[in-house]
Amino acid sequence: MSKTVLITGAAGFIGSHLTRSLLADGANVIGIDNESTGRRENIAELLDNSNFQYVCSDAGDESVLSDLASDVDEVYHLAAAVGVALVAADPVRTIQTNIDLTQTLLRVLERRNRVRPVKLYFASTSEVYGRNPARIWSEDDELVYGPTTIGRWSYGLSKAIDEHLVLAYVRQFGLSAVIGRFFNVVGARQTGQYGMVLPRFVSAALKNAPLTVFDDGAQRRCFIHVSDVVKIIRELVSKSDNSGQIYNIGSSESISILDLAKKVIAQTGSKSTIEFLPSTAVYGENFEDCRWRTPDVSKLFSAIEYRPQFSLSDAISDIVESISNE
Ligand SMILES: NC(=O)c1ccc[n+]([C@@H]2O[C@H](COP(=O)([O-])OP(=O)(O)OC[C@H]3O[C@@H](n4cnc5c(N)ncnc54)[C@H](O)[C@@H]3O)[C@@H](O)[C@H]2O)c1
Repeated sequence: MSKTVLITGAAGFIGSHLTRSLLADGANVIGIDNESTGRRENIAELLDNSNFQYVCSDAGDESVLSDLASDVDEVYHLAAAVGVALVAADPVRTIQTNIDLTQTLLRVLERRNRVRPVKLYFASTSEVYGRNPARIWSEDDELVYGPTTIGRWSYGLSKAIDEHLVLAYVRQFGLSAVIGRFFNVVGARQTGQYGMVLPRFVSAALKNAPLTVFDDGAQRRCFIHVSDVVKIIRELVSKSDNSGQIYNIGSSESISILDLAKKVIAQTGSKSTIEFLPSTAVYGENFEDCRWRTPDVSKLFSAIEYRPQFSLSDAISDIVESISNE
């Protein structure tokens, strides 16, 4: 019998890829999304699929969530307030959304789990490491945040509280859950509107407009293709021996933001120039950036068989295609 899966944030960037992947493999998928940063167009052609039930609603509504979760085998919790720009512009929404949603979902799943077991995937982030000065971050490393007067840390802290909540439900109530910390996931349908760098660069390059690099552009990031991420999280959820475990999910190859801008211009054949701007000019004085962010992925790849198959160039091509089709 095919399994039934609930995805919160199904109309979002990662959620829309996960929904397609599960449907393609014959699962019944229930998606919930309030279409705040996600878009119905991301899943438009799936809405006629009889194995897909889509609900446009706030996932913080406990009675709606309770109904939707009543018969599911797996839950992927992706709904959150996401993106550096959104976090800077609306810190109250970030903190409330991220913590309230997770609390509500965990209450619902704890009740459901008493009747029939359910497995939860929780989407965490590299931002939980804060500004830990280590060059490479491992799952057991210290979480190091700046002062509470610097608003950007609220996103990472809210996700760290979520991780604590998930682990508390595992320990106290025997819920089965696995946590993945995403490091810069990229691919088609990601929007640059909330501060995500790669779609912002690609969209500017396609218009031959200047690519804005913040600060000196020497900050380094690792980008992983969303199709790889979907395969990775599905394998993690399918395993029975990882409840209470946390995994970094990312690429171990880093690139500077300046080189990323050059790569996008070269790959798209754009006439764009590169301009530099202090990040504080965009996100306000109350902002602090991380110089590098690289995951140690040894724990992940000793736990699963899948190995990433897509490159950063593939992601750039996919973003070009998805922007061109809009
Ligand atoms: N994309 C990345 O590089 C990245 C990195 C680290 C962590 N993450 C995490 O992965 C998850 C998915 O991120 P994404 O990149 O797909 O972003 P996204 O913004 O595209 O997806 C989040 C989805 O949640 C929905 N949502 C927000 N609040 C909601 C609510 N109250 N009720 C119902 N739906 C709601 C949004 O409309 C959106 O569709 C998030 O939890 C995010 O924190 C993503």
